[in-house]
Amino acid sequence: MTVLIAGCGDLGTEAGLRFAAAGHEVIGLRRSPEKLPGEIRGVRADLSQEVPALPADAGTVVIALAADASTEEAYRAAYVDGLSHVLDAVDRQAVPPRRILLISSTAVYPDAGGAVVDESTPTKPTRFSGKILLEAEELLFSRAGESQAVVLRLGGIYGPGRTRLIDQVRSGKAVIPSQPKHTNRIHRDDAAAMIVHLATMEQEPDAVYVGVDNESAELGDVLRFLAKELQFPEPPARPASDDGPGDKRCSNQRLLSTGFTFTYPSYKEGYRAILAGEGVRHP
Ligand SMILES: NC(=O)c1ccc[n+]([C@@H]2O[C@H](COP(=O)([O-])OP(=O)(O)OC[C@H]3O[C@@H](n4cnc5c(N)ncnc54)[C@H](OP(=O)(O)O)[C@@H]3O)[C@@H](O)[C@H]2O)c1
Repeated sequence: MTVLIAGCGDLGTEAGLRFAAAGHEVIGLRRSPEKLPGEIRGVRADLSQEVPALPADAGTVVIALAADASTEEAYRAAYVDGLSHVLDAVDRQAVPPRRILLISSTAVYPDAGGAVVDESTPTKPTRFSGKILLEAEELLFSRAGESQAVVLRLGGIYGPGRTRLIDQVRSGKAVIPSQPKHTNRIHRDDAAAMIVHLATMEQEPDAVYVGVDNESAELGDVLRFLAKELQFPEPPARPASDDGPGDKRCSNQRLLSTGFTFTYPSYKEGYRAILAGEGVRHP
């Protein structure tokens, strides 16, 4: 099978390497294909501007584009225009791909006051990022066949070189929220493994999966854990009035029911591997 990865960055490259190791031909579309490793055939395309040429035998299409900036305009260019151009290219295929997998985000769910959120929870994003990602999901479902379209809503990705919380603890800038505030996280490698799993599993996939690890942890616990691992003092607590956006606990039960298993079931295993220097961030 040929796998096409549109927006082949850190996550897309890790997934591509795994598809290649399993014997698939992998093509990565991006504006700077020269950054891709030899296992992935790079093709230059600016997907927010142009309809790419796809190989005739693309059996799986993965869309893992990310916005260049945290603005409405940049989000729309990547997630809506980019997806739309990939779907235009798919429409020209004589043989349609078996699966089209869109990488989305748990940002499509509103804050839920600490309640559990899963695929059946209504999507009511409050911020522009979630609204535009939801628009992209709806675009996929309206244009791709019911049995083709799969959306993977990832939590916050951490991994090699993606060390925001570690850096906060090291620099003394970390603060522990005064109210319980959950963080729904996924190690980059497990997110990549999910992409391969959902694209290749025998059983007919559902339309949507939540992609987070097994432990929706309190941010304060993650920061305390990192401080301990790094042998730094425990970060101070934040004043109660200054906690920022709310709270939700994402469930990965549907994904687990497909037989997916985690290399890093919680932040503890994942961060220990990062602190031990395992893995690299793909450019
Ligand atoms: N960060 C998180 O915590 C998080 C959480 C949930 C979901 N996600 C989703 O995870 C996905 C992958 O993220 P990532 O970490 O792999 O991001 P990344 O490393 O920034 O990769 C995104 C890739 O998209 C390519 N790209 C961007 N605009 C493009 C365009 N107009 N045409 C062609 N290629 C374009 C970029 O390559 P070039 O610059 O070479 O074009 C880049 O390599 C994204 O869909 C993101 O929304 C992320």
